[in-house]
Amino acid sequence: MTTRTTTSAAALSPLHRPGPDAEWWRTAVIYQVYPRSFADADGDGTGDLPGITARLPHLAALGVDAIWLSPFYRSPQADAGYDVADYRDVDPLFGTLDDADHLVREAHALGLRVIIDLVPNHTSDQHAWFRAALAAGPGSPERARYLFREGLGEHGEEPPNNWSSIFGGNAWTRVRDRADAPGSTWADDGQWYLHLFDSAQPDLNWDNPEVHAEFESVLRFWLDRGVDGFRVDVAHGLVKAAGLPDWSGHVRMVDGETEPADGDGAGGAADDAPSDGPAGTGAAADPTAAADPTAADDPAPGANRGPMFDQEGVHDIYRRWHEVLAEYDGDRALVAEAWVDPLSRLARYVRPDEMHQAFNFAFLVTPWDAARLRACVAESYAAYDAVGAPTTWVLSNHDVVRHASRLGLAETGKGPNGIGAEDTQPDAALGLRRARAASTLMLALPGSAYLYQGEELGLPEHTALDDDLRQDPAWPRTGFTEKGRDGCRVPLPWSADEPAYGFSPTGRSWLPQPADWAPYAVDAQTGVAGSTLELYREALRLRAELGLGASAVRWAEDWAESPDVVAFVSSAADRADVLVVTAVGDTTVTLPEGHEVLLASGPLEARDGGTVLPADTTVWLRRG
Ligand code: GLC
Repeated sequence: MTTRTTTSAAALSPLHRPGPDAEWWRTAVIYQVYPRSFADADGDGTGDLPGITARLPHLAALGVDAIWLSPFYRSPQADAGYDVADYRDVDPLFGTLDDADHLVREAHALGLRVIIDLVPNHTSDQHAWFRAALAAGPGSPERARYLFREGLGEHGEEPPNNWSSIFGGNAWTRVRDRADAPGSTWADDGQWYLHLFDSAQPDLNWDNPEVHAEFESVLRFWLDRGVDGFRVDVAHGLVKAAGLPDWSGHVRMVDGETEPADGDGAGGAADDAPSDGPAGTGAAADPTAAADPTAADDPAPGANRGPMFDQEGVHDIYRRWHEVLAEYDGDRALVAEAWVDPLSRLARYVRPDEMHQAFNFAFLVTPWDAARLRACVAESYAAYDAVGAPTTWVLSNHDVVRHASRLGLAETGKGPNGIGAEDTQPDAALGLRRARAASTLMLALPGSAYLYQGEELGLPEHTALDDDLRQDPAWPRTGFTEKGRDGCRVPLPWSADEPAYGFSPTGRSWLPQPADWAPYAVDAQTGVAGSTLELYREALRLRAELGLGASAVRWAEDWAESPDVVAFVSSAADRADVLVVTAVGDTTVTLPEGHEVLLASGPLEARDGGTVLPADTTVWLRRG
């Protein structure tokens, strides 16, 4: 189908107008580095901090404003570093503290800010606190830093409540059932401890002031070393509802979507009551709650979240952290990883005195559908503008199937939790075309955008990994039913003709790279017209030049309700309007005349004297 149409200058009401504030994080493009898979300097097959530092010029040339590093702390790597044993040191796998300092200095010298990952919901079970808690026994102050409880049943043989782990299986482990129990002082210990993720990731007790003090100290440790901010892992999970009430739902990662509970639970009924705030932090007296512009949109308590998530008390923690960051110069920032919906509820994490950004997973999980995309964009601006925070945009990260593959599946949206060789394979060409279109659309939208390493190469998911190489704990914990996240974590290809595509000097790679990745390598795409890498570079260059991240936007009138086109106009006082048009799905669009093509995610077609935008393609046009 060809939609022949023209656009008029008549404006619809604006979707978004920029606010008065101009801190860097309001418009930044932030690139996620997953340290174990970015670049390996020492040749052991696992990426490291010196490897990242050596490749920083790639990121500067790409044109991003900042990097976010996934965890590099000391860790037994039970969950790829999201199980932290020492928050003040670097794991030898990744280097040393000096290497971290060097990385931050070099990044700053290149004009790149550095955000690091903070994991406050849980520690590793090898953290000194947890070792001490096991040894000290029931009733001890050491155990009070975690969530140890007696079991139910005559002999305490049943877990304290019915919560399930996000990685599958039970959320409780009995101390005496641990592999390290036999022969230890806790060999006969009947208590249980809570872990919303793996049993090697015990949840901390945020009702304990000691936990607050410790994390404030960790923040300062890294702020003093010059980091520009923190990505806060599972930011909605720290505080649990008082009494840890039963709840039979199962929360899935990233999307915040909750499989329905079977109606038995308290379901987080306490979460709008202030009583579950951490000790001494005064949730009950929260003055901003009453004035909260988003409060009217709150779902019924527990409607879409359990008693372990999105409790009122978490906001007091972030208010305090906001104050800590504000003591430092340079607009340091906090970004929430919180799978909370609706967006109006998520926006509560970025009220003026809390965090600065929150990942917009609603955008990531939106199916490739014009009306759904428009709705998500409009809801995002409405929700974040209401609290004066920037909207963020994200399409991929280390927890989801890469969008170049996700968008090549018959059903688009959140996608499966991993893809294996025996599963239906994505259509690679379709996925890449849509991914380029989606990213080109995303990078024109005002706000802050997150890129996941490799997406600038159009990298697909590894969808045929050997099952015995999988390392994600979700794979065994789901009884080998969910493939997990390894497929999006495969080391990057840098050079088409080198072993391990130049990822490591020895050719080693902790996960094998597919044999057909040479065309995706950085050196194979550099300077090649039409390559995905050059598309991203040009998009970022133009985004900065035109100030797209800080512009006003409105829907383009002629397509405002189109079933297969998303089109918006980006305006700023000192330049001509930019019209962004995405043909979503099985359609083509005849572009209006008199416009200059600034950027296109794929080849345009000349037809009948006009220019046609093919299906699954985005174009940026400068209005004549
Ligand atoms: C976050 C991380 C994920 C990790 C989990 C537990 O969702 O992004 O990778 O497994 O938290 O820390």
